[in-house]
Amino acid sequence: MTATDFIATTDLQGKRVIVRVDLNVPIQNGVVQDISRIKNIAPTINFLKKAHSKIILISHLGKTSSKNEAQSLRQVVSALENEYKSKVVFIDDCLSEQADKIISEASFNDLILLENLRFYKEEEACDQEFAQKLAKFGDFYINEAFSVSHRKHASVYALPLFLPHALGLAFKKEMGVIDNFLNNAKSPKMSIVGGAKLSTKVNLLKNLVKKVDKLALGGGIAGAFLAFQGNTSLKIAAQKEFEKEVVEIVGNAKECGCELIFPVDFSALMSENNENSIITADGLNASIFDIGPESVKLFLRHIRESATILWNGPVGLFEKTPFDFGTRSIGEEIARLTREGRIVSIVGGGDTGFAMNKFGFSKDLTYQSTSGGAFLAYLEGSKLPGLMAMKDAFSLQE
Ligand code: 3PG
Repeated sequence: MTATDFIATTDLQGKRVIVRVDLNVPIQNGVVQDISRIKNIAPTINFLKKAHSKIILISHLGKTSSKNEAQSLRQVVSALENEYKSKVVFIDDCLSEQADKIISEASFNDLILLENLRFYKEEEACDQEFAQKLAKFGDFYINEAFSVSHRKHASVYALPLFLPHALGLAFKKEMGVIDNFLNNAKSPKMSIVGGAKLSTKVNLLKNLVKKVDKLALGGGIAGAFLAFQGNTSLKIAAQKEFEKEVVEIVGNAKECGCELIFPVDFSALMSENNENSIITADGLNASIFDIGPESVKLFLRHIRESATILWNGPVGLFEKTPFDFGTRSIGEEIARLTREGRIVSIVGGGDTGFAMNKFGFSKDLTYQSTSGGAFLAYLEGSKLPGLMAMKDAFSLQE
């Protein structure tokens, strides 16, 4: 991407601006359960309000390719109205003839929200005609949805072909935080990577071992590494298809001076009595659900010795007591050290973010991403389609 020019509020004065946001938020009984993603877009919304632009929000909600009430963005209207103190004009069919008229008649003080784009199969098919129809609603396009920019979808990848465009302020911030962690952050740099499946984290680990001083593994991923190292007693398969990658990651860690930190004990259910027990890393015949107390001590010691921490993936089944112990203890210590100004902390990934919100640690972290797959993809070094599409993008100038 080459940011050719800055765009100030005056440049967007009175313009119709289409903003791709991520309003894919948890909803129960029609009520939004977590407004982090709604709050996250505030810098761009406020920038456009100051510019007196007509703001047209477009988003997906969930995974679907046909219209249904449970995935209607209508359910997000009141949360948006509360947050931005503006009326939201909802358009339930962006392809209808009335859509254009409703947009022209809407007041510049209103926010306009189009129905879930994934109700149209053209969105995921990255259909250019569909993108062109959407483009007609606006004079300018902003991608303020880092979290869906790993998808090559019409509203992310094709729409910027038809309008002058810029990255949103929150998008740029998230990218900057990750770039800075990978390339410039203060050492010692530590990453903690958890999660259930090695398959989803292999590329991330490959990239991180070259970038960090310490890499601690938790969750099923740690178990899988231990299984490769010959531990046959944990009920974790070595996932043979990743043998080459695991060998490469361990070899690269050695070469790059990255210290790999593995759990030394686990909280587990013993198969003979189905009871929760603490076992050492070579305990017998057990299904593991969390790292154990000695591992927590080990991880906390390394966290205290670090200056910058990036964490992706819970280290255990945090949704279920007592298997929340590892994730909660690590989060608590990272939050405390950040509050005291002793470390810089970055937390990303859907489950890790959810855990931090649940335990009340989010407010103390230096940066908490609202992204899942996109955070992972960017951290792995993958090229995000949403970013690739922003050739010659303007930069919003606050
Ligand atoms: C997310 O929740 O990670 C984003 O909204 C992307 O959603 P998707 O995985 O359904 O594309």
